[in-house]
Amino acid sequence: MDTTRHAGRVVIVTGAGYGIGRGTALRFAREGATVIGIDVSDEGLALARAEFDSAGVKVDLRKADITSQADVDRLFVDVIGTHGRVDVLANVAGIMDHFVVAADVDDATWNRVMDVNVTGPMRMIRAALPGMLERKAGAIVNVASVGGFKGGTAGVAYTTSKHAVVGLTRNTAWVYAKQGIRCNAVCPGGVQTNIGTSSAPRDPSIMAVFAPIHGAVNGMAQPDDIASLISWLASDEARNVNGAIVADDGGWSAG
Ligand SMILES: NC(=O)c1ccc[n+]([C@@H]2O[C@H](COP(=O)([O-])OP(=O)(O)OC[C@H]3O[C@@H](n4cnc5c(N)ncnc54)[C@H](O)[C@@H]3O)[C@@H](O)[C@H]2O)c1
Repeated sequence: MDTTRHAGRVVIVTGAGYGIGRGTALRFAREGATVIGIDVSDEGLALARAEFDSAGVKVDLRKADITSQADVDRLFVDVIGTHGRVDVLANVAGIMDHFVVAADVDDATWNRVMDVNVTGPMRMIRAALPGMLERKAGAIVNVASVGGFKGGTAGVAYTTSKHAVVGLTRNTAWVYAKQGIRCNAVCPGGVQTNIGTSSAPRDPSIMAVFAPIHGAVNGMAQPDDIASLISWLASDEARNVNGAIVADDGGWSAG
């Protein structure tokens, strides 16, 4: 690990309480960045704080809900006020959809998954862009999923939301490419995290439909396996990488 890779940078990581977001906040901090990690979960924030403290790593953890425009506005006012800028935005927070399929999906599930997985990242990008455009520099990394380009990994809301994250990523990359801003997405396969809280199938019998794809998963990754790619995409080493949708799945989606 290069402890100076992100030295001097201000990085916001969403979903920093658990899983990939926590691992990403930890990695950026170890690589020299000033990290602001946000999460909606008090429990997740407390557990992350305990892990960062015991690792001797400084991360500014704050409670914020990416589905609340007021929370996002307040966050950016605070961060810009304290640190002057945001160099990197890692949109990691996301939820699953209990494998609910199209015939069964209720509006509440659909809207909640879209709000957290799509509208939340859009809100964060919209808030980060003015400062990035002013400085003609910035890196955004969105966490999509193998479900962002394959149809058989999750329910209809999650699959649709992650396909939308791919569109959000490519459109942002194209529109702002000439203004020094890069936007890429990582697509994890199976990762050992806390996402099981929204993964329990509402109708267990439906899992037979997903079995052929799930059965081909090539092992479970750890959060840092994804964090390392997020960090690289945000780094100067990836300066020519923009609009890329990069699988980080041990080869699962290659078959
Ligand atoms: N774990 C996997 O196998 C896997 C696979 C592919 C993609 N992903 C994606 O990776 C990302 C991270 O998921 P994870 O597996 O680490 O799950 P996780 O549940 O461990 O972490 C997600 C974090 O996001 C937070 N969060 C949820 N809603 C939020 C909101 N409204 N505002 C702020 N924070 C919020 C949660 O509290 C949690 O800390 C997600 O976008 C997920 O879709 C995960």
